[in-house]
Amino acid sequence: MTQTRREFLRYSAATTCTLAVPSTVLAQGSFDELTARVARQQLLPDTYPATEIWGYGGTVPAPEIRVRQGGRVQRRFRNELPQPSSVHWHGIRIENAMDGVSGLTQDAVAPGASFDYDFAAPDAGTYWYHAHNRSHEQVARGLRGALIVEEPNGPDVDREEVLMLEDWLLDPETGQHFADFDQPMMMSHGGRIGNFVTTNGLYDLSMPARKNERIRLRVINASGARIFPLTLSGLEGWTLALDGMPQPSPERIDGVLILGPAQRMDLVVDVTADQGSVAQVLRIGDDDQPVPQVSFPVEGLASLATRAAPAPLEPNPKSAMPDLAGARDLRLVMAGGAMGRMQSALLGGERLGFRQLAGAGRFWSFNDVAEMTETPLADLSINEPVRLKIDNQTVFPHAMHLHGMHFREVRADGALGPMRDTILMAGNETREIAFVADNPGKWLFHCHMLSHAASGMTTWVRVV
Ligand code: C2O
Ligand code: CU
Repeated sequence: MTQTRREFLRYSAATTCTLAVPSTVLAQGSFDELTARVARQQLLPDTYPATEIWGYGGTVPAPEIRVRQGGRVQRRFRNELPQPSSVHWHGIRIENAMDGVSGLTQDAVAPGASFDYDFAAPDAGTYWYHAHNRSHEQVARGLRGALIVEEPNGPDVDREEVLMLEDWLLDPETGQHFADFDQPMMMSHGGRIGNFVTTNGLYDLSMPARKNERIRLRVINASGARIFPLTLSGLEGWTLALDGMPQPSPERIDGVLILGPAQRMDLVVDVTADQGSVAQVLRIGDDDQPVPQVSFPVEGLASLATRAAPAPLEPNPKSAMPDLAGARDLRLVMAGGAMGRMQSALLGGERLGFRQLAGAGRFWSFNDVAEMTETPLADLSINEPVRLKIDNQTVFPHAMHLHGMHFREVRADGALGPMRDTILMAGNETREIAFVADNPGKWLFHCHMLSHAASGMTTWVRVV
């Protein structure tokens, strides 16, 4: 399948995306349906109006999808939205045809049409799924859910909870989204950052716990742009996995946990707060004050004694270290945004000045290009090791996400960091990542601050 110019334009000029054609439905047995539709849900406190959301199954978060490692995920996606859409399975290393990127790995599924997703889940861990067409609007409206792949031998815990962190930009008068998802001010700054934060669709999520109970928390940042700095109170524990991938040894939590858009972390926490008090996951707010994100009123006693540190999880397959010495060197220069140095960039094969770019809804560039093009950032051969230097010449943080493969950060001393699929970069920072290009296909590399992805920060690599 070759990529036509029009398909690319459809992706990059996603605001006018109406050309989608229905996908062919595979002749398979009966799949569970995953229907995206418009619904209403009470997000704000009861005294405010309910919000019109777009949700899989009509809820946000969407119903959790949970399989055992190696198990199949089979879903017939039905689009009952007023826009074409597709489903991306974030962080899970599956075949390219199932990656769900409208305009790159499949045509967007037109309203009224359906598409069958069918893949085996090779990696255990905490993943998520979300819309991948006009993501800066569709994910913000609510099209996202957890994808949990269970280890054959999970950690020894009393229970587990999935915590999907969300933020919303809502008009408190009407309860509705501030409707302009393509607002230049947001695109050119930190993205669509909300004025209202929820967990699992609730602004006041609270679940009883018991003293000395051991809980696995699967935390997912499903927001379109917000960075969550989190601290624990009355809870102590370890980080077990990042972006689905086990840490070689669990790391004791000490201080602030920072979760950028699309990143996940698996924690094992013990409830240390006394009965009658409340343990909490707190978010450090914009004014530096901690606010409750999730509360655990301590209502009983699980055991008298605290326990030893948890054992590490077994590594997922294909977790080898990339060979840095033999690696192909690539560079990505990120420019643009408010207060940026981007004077001009290429769009539609022409060099345009900042004002013209802004007029076309482009505020950022990757290597001087402000759109997805037919030419990938790199053509990689299968199993080629790659080093990619990412030079953020903007004053904004960005959450850079690679589809289809996990990478490791190459630290200043040359050591390799943990496997991740999304790296949070600070403004004016240069970081380097390395990976083995072991998954054939066309894979996006983009900022997961989704307004940035829609306004210039999207590229891709081809692995053959
Ligand atoms: Cu979470 Cu391109 O995706
Ligand atoms: Cu960004």
